Amino acid sequence: MIEFSQRLHALPGYPLAEIPSIKRRLIEAGMDVIDLGAGDNDTPPPAVAVEALAEALHDPAYSKYGFQQGLPAFRQAASRWVERRFGLRFDPMTELLPLIGSKEGLSHLPFAVVNPGDATIVPEPGYQAYIGGSILAGADPYIVPLRPENGFLLDLERVPAAVLRRAKLVFINYPNNPTAAVATPEYLERTVAICRRHDILLAYDNAYCDLTFDGYRAPSIFEVPGARDVALEFFSLSKSFSMTGWRIGFAVGRRELITALTRVKSYTDTGPFLAVQKAGVAALDQAEALVAPIRAELETRRNAAVAALREAGFALEAPKAAMYLWVALPAGVASASFTKRALEDTGTVVLPGSAFGPAGEGFFRIALTVGADRLRSAAGRLGQTLGAVHRGELAPIP
Ligand SMILES: Cc1ncc(COP(=O)(O)O)c(C=O)c1O
Repeated sequence: MIEFSQRLHALPGYPLAEIPSIKRRLIEAGMDVIDLGAGDNDTPPPAVAVEALAEALHDPAYSKYGFQQGLPAFRQAASRWVERRFGLRFDPMTELLPLIGSKEGLSHLPFAVVNPGDATIVPEPGYQAYIGGSILAGADPYIVPLRPENGFLLDLERVPAAVLRRAKLVFINYPNNPTAAVATPEYLERTVAICRRHDILLAYDNAYCDLTFDGYRAPSIFEVPGARDVALEFFSLSKSFSMTGWRIGFAVGRRELITALTRVKSYTDTGPFLAVQKAGVAALDQAEALVAPIRAELETRRNAAVAALREAGFALEAPKAAMYLWVALPAGVASASFTKRALEDTGTVVLPGSAFGPAGEGFFRIALTVGADRLRSAAGRLGQTLGAVHRGELAPIP
């Protein structure tokens, strides 16, 4: 008998794990399934990236190991983009690191700073790589519930001093998945100050920084003075350029922090495929033109979905960023029973808040991954499931 590790057992269930098989069963049974589960847009990747990738595939040099250095041109393009986007300068060779998607870097980061039993501070609901990476590295994740009354902000001021003293790393993510909340500059300043006071590494996950609406502009953590002492920031090409499956992102920060993550990664991977890095150069160099239509489409989808959901009986705010709606359920209804019923009765895939941890209970997440008309249909279907809630047909929160 092979015995599995305590770390493996400690991993919470992954929220998207079971959906593909249920979805396949429903499609085989002839149901018209609308999948608003994973944050994976239906828009195509940019043609310039596809062309650059195709070209690179014909050049054997791009089929070699990339190692951690990767393609200098990718590092330079990423550094140029950060400078254009935020007015911040990071040396491409020493203060920036290509990642096989930002999930890879975020989940490997705990190995660089935690010893067994050290705390990491993790938002809940939150992106699963934070808790998973922490547990796999032997850390003890301290969960901070994100609450609507607190703007879904992870407030380090409310974390007990004893936890702050043994914490090595905190994950902060705004624009946020799954709540779509955004952070104010004052919040970011407070957070950096606390991390500096307690020598806590601040992993700032900015995967959604360019998916913003109503003229809102998402900042970099490095716009806060002093952040370079304590922060690493993670960027992704997945969402902004519809390149989720390509697996490309990067981290920026001061040299010692980047070197530590590089050292971990040299034992776990050999860097993103060089041909994908070449495509990344094409995308990043034209980011402003390429992202604008994706952002506009998402804003149209957000408007359509928010209006249709309100009409269907849900109460929700229109978020300023990201690609999600985090929708409150009537008090006491278990989110998993709501989403299961929505899937089985109406063929609509949305994620239960509880899949993002117990603190996500009472909500469900819609990803704006299909066009406005399909979102309107989905809202109507979810309204039918809400009707079942009002008729008392759904299980309460256990
Ligand atoms: C908050 C957050 N960070 C990071 C990622 C990972 O993105 P990537 O595709 O770059 O690994 C996601 C993906 O859903 C996310 O929601």
